[in-house]
Amino acid sequence: MENSKNMKALVLSGGKGTRLRPLTYTGAKQLVPIANRPILSYVFDNIAKVGIKEVGVIISPETGAEVKETIGDGSKWGISIEYILQSEPKGLAHAVLIAQDFLGDDPFVMYLGDNLIGCGIEKFVDTFHTTKADAVILLKPVDNPQAFGVAQADSTGKIICLEEKPREPKSNLALVGVYIFSNEIHKSIARIKPSPRGELEITDAIQNLITVGKPVHSHVLDTWWLDTGKKDDLLAANTVVLDEWFKRNIAGSVDSASQITGRVTVEAGAVVRNSTLRGPIVIGSGSIVEDSFIGPFTSIGSDTKITKSIIEHCVILNGAEISHIDRLEDSLIGRKAKVNKCHHKHEALRLMIGDDSVVEV
Ligand code: DAU
Repeated sequence: MENSKNMKALVLSGGKGTRLRPLTYTGAKQLVPIANRPILSYVFDNIAKVGIKEVGVIISPETGAEVKETIGDGSKWGISIEYILQSEPKGLAHAVLIAQDFLGDDPFVMYLGDNLIGCGIEKFVDTFHTTKADAVILLKPVDNPQAFGVAQADSTGKIICLEEKPREPKSNLALVGVYIFSNEIHKSIARIKPSPRGELEITDAIQNLITVGKPVHSHVLDTWWLDTGKKDDLLAANTVVLDEWFKRNIAGSVDSASQITGRVTVEAGAVVRNSTLRGPIVIGSGSIVEDSFIGPFTSIGSDTKITKSIIEHCVILNGAEISHIDRLEDSLIGRKAKVNKCHHKHEALRLMIGDDSVVEV
């Protein structure tokens, strides 16, 4: 896209990730896989598609190394990435503050690394150029606006006011985690104070732009948006991505005793024996599926082992093992976790469950 020439991007991949515990005790929430790809990959897909070449990525001391190792230097997307360490999660506007040297005076897209949207950001970038606003925000009507930044817009999309997680929201329009700013945002951030939750809020900085008379516009998202912070959101995101973006691709080995129906991806290096696969599903490299049924909307990571089990609508992360489970549904299974049926005579559950886990039997 020609008009993104001097535009940069700032991707926020720091923070604490408390909402996806226990999965994110050990990993960054922005790397949790959706259809076997880290959420951040979809973010970089969208940034690269509008022609942005220079991307700053905010990382935290806890998960920064893992983010760097997974994402690399950006060459996979034809972009160059500069990592910027934020020593504490002091807010979205604080992240912009510490990225000022990288951003300079250029306009930039700010993209929260745990947000997944069902389309590209081309129209959104166009809105920034045609309105010549100092900020353009992406909005989506939701049922629970209290959980988000909330905006009030006039009939032309110009923003009247904004509030972060208000108790009594003035509209049902939530701020989606993608924003575009001119260099005016830096002056605005310098004028705001931390919020009651102790963070420098980007919502307050945008409100400050309005207060000093700068134009702030909006673009309403007409596809789905998933904030992947919780288990059910994650399963929903997995379902939508498998359903809309996946094609049939059998690169791994599937024996003649197995049956495949629908859009099934078996990655190279995966082995399927005597099993039924009903798409949309994806099975990662190095995984072994034997004597099992894998039903729609399931993502199985790499190096897993699935034996004599029936699984549907699940996300199974790398290295997990599942054996002799009659039916596993709507579940999220963490890395290297094991779910086995015990063959002892008396009925008893034998569990070793990490902190904050949830087991429904
Ligand atoms: O998801 C949309 C919502 O994101 C908006 O509606 C809100 O207005 C906005 O404030 C934000 O709210 P959250 O409370 O959900 O933000 P969270 O703390 O989850 O952080 C969002 C992302 O930014 C996440 O990937 C972590 C990263 N982050 C967060 C903070 C506070 C950083 O990199 N540094 C930080 O200091």
